Amino acid sequence: MNQKSIIILAAGQGTRMKSELPKVLHKISGKPMLYYSIKEALKLSDDITVVLYHQFEKVKTEIEKYFSNINFVIQDHKNYPGTGGAVMGIKPKYEKTLVLNGDMPLIQASELEKFDIPNATIVMSVLKLQSADGYGRVIIENGDVKKIVEQKDATQNELKITTANAGIYQFCSKFLLENLPKLNNNNAQKEYYITDLVEMAINQGKVLKPLVVNEENFKGVNSKVELADAEVIHQNRIKKEFMKAGVILRLPDTIYIEEGVTIEGESIIENGVSLLGNSKIINSHIKTNSVVEDSIIKDSDVGPMARIRPDSELNKTHIGNFVETKKAKLNGVKAGHLSYLGDCVIDEGTNIGCGTITCNYDGVNKHQTIIGKNVFVGSDTQFVAPVNIEDDVLIGAGSTVTGNVKKGELYLTRAKAKTIDGYFYKHFSSKKKS
Ligand code: UD1
Ligand code: CA
Repeated sequence: MNQKSIIILAAGQGTRMKSELPKVLHKISGKPMLYYSIKEALKLSDDITVVLYHQFEKVKTEIEKYFSNINFVIQDHKNYPGTGGAVMGIKPKYEKTLVLNGDMPLIQASELEKFDIPNATIVMSVLKLQSADGYGRVIIENGDVKKIVEQKDATQNELKITTANAGIYQFCSKFLLENLPKLNNNNAQKEYYITDLVEMAINQGKVLKPLVVNEENFKGVNSKVELADAEVIHQNRIKKEFMKAGVILRLPDTIYIEEGVTIEGESIIENGVSLLGNSKIINSHIKTNSVVEDSIIKDSDVGPMARIRPDSELNKTHIGNFVETKKAKLNGVKAGHLSYLGDCVIDEGTNIGCGTITCNYDGVNKHQTIIGKNVFVGSDTQFVAPVNIEDDVLIGAGSTVTGNVKKGELYLTRAKAKTIDGYFYKHFSSKKKS
């Protein structure tokens, strides 16, 4: 690890997102954008500072769910707005300081290592684009970078330039600290621009190295359109890794897999499936349009159109269509159709008939349903929890189970059937249309 400090700029409100939610908390593959810059930064440094301002408490609280070893500073945004203002007052621990943006969720540590160019005072990232719309333009004269001009400050001719500033820089910390106080806000946005440090370095005869970077990794997200575009790229990365590891993804473009999901062994994920949170799929087959959230599925098959909600654990289990589970520990169970299995533990060899419901909620508290081995649950059964069903039990179809059932018993609640000969004709003849 080449020692450097890293500053991540995340104070901006993100006006172009048109949202109350701070820009860097908008999610990509289930995690806030800022999560990804920090994750990559931690591969390179132990001195990471995130600059916040707009709704800083909200951002800090969210990020602290994932990381404990980073520093936060609050920008003096009122007096020093802008990307330059954001860096003022930070004390880097190391000789080099890498500045990242919190709105670049596709950044990769391996790309950031390329900024370690010896003897350069500033290494700045440059994009060669078809259109540089939205970016600061890099002004090059006789092959050398002269300065960066923001879109809002650019002349008609400068706007035509397609060489853009990607917004990531590695500075000599000493240069940065000496020159930040010299920044001014004489520009269209009345902000202190970090980009002005480039021209200052050149005027001081310092070595400036432009580093051409790839657009995909350095994409900035400023709008909901760019958010969606970045998520597609991120999803493709996640899915490619799983396919390389031996997982079959049918029609991968239709599948959504969040950051944090693991898939192991010989697993098949069919089209339209969503795998969410920290779900873990091991040697299992998840069929079309099923949703799995924060659950573990091992040696099982699920769906099509099943919903496995948080804290479910399925082992050697068959779950068919329109079955919903939640906090369900199912070991060697078959639940083929149309059931709700919540807050329950069900053991080996048990068959859950179509239409079975665990009535787990009494309006105030949640209660458990425990079902043992080799239980045959007839269709349309309701378990009014808490109930405990021992091994080798038969539950008659249509029963409402309100008490515990002992090993080997039949449990049946059913109104006695009644038949009246010819009643159909009698009923309708008395209701003749007038
Ligand atoms: C910036 C660059 C632009 C570059 C582009 C690349 C400047 C002046 N411009 O423009 O040359 O092409 O990035 O994506 O630097 N931020 C703060 N405090 C602030 C303002 C912004 O921390 O006062 C943070 C934002 O949260 C964001 C980052 O800095 O993470 C960039 O800010 P943004 O407003 O998106 O800058 P751009 O206009 O995209
Ligand atoms: Ca930006």
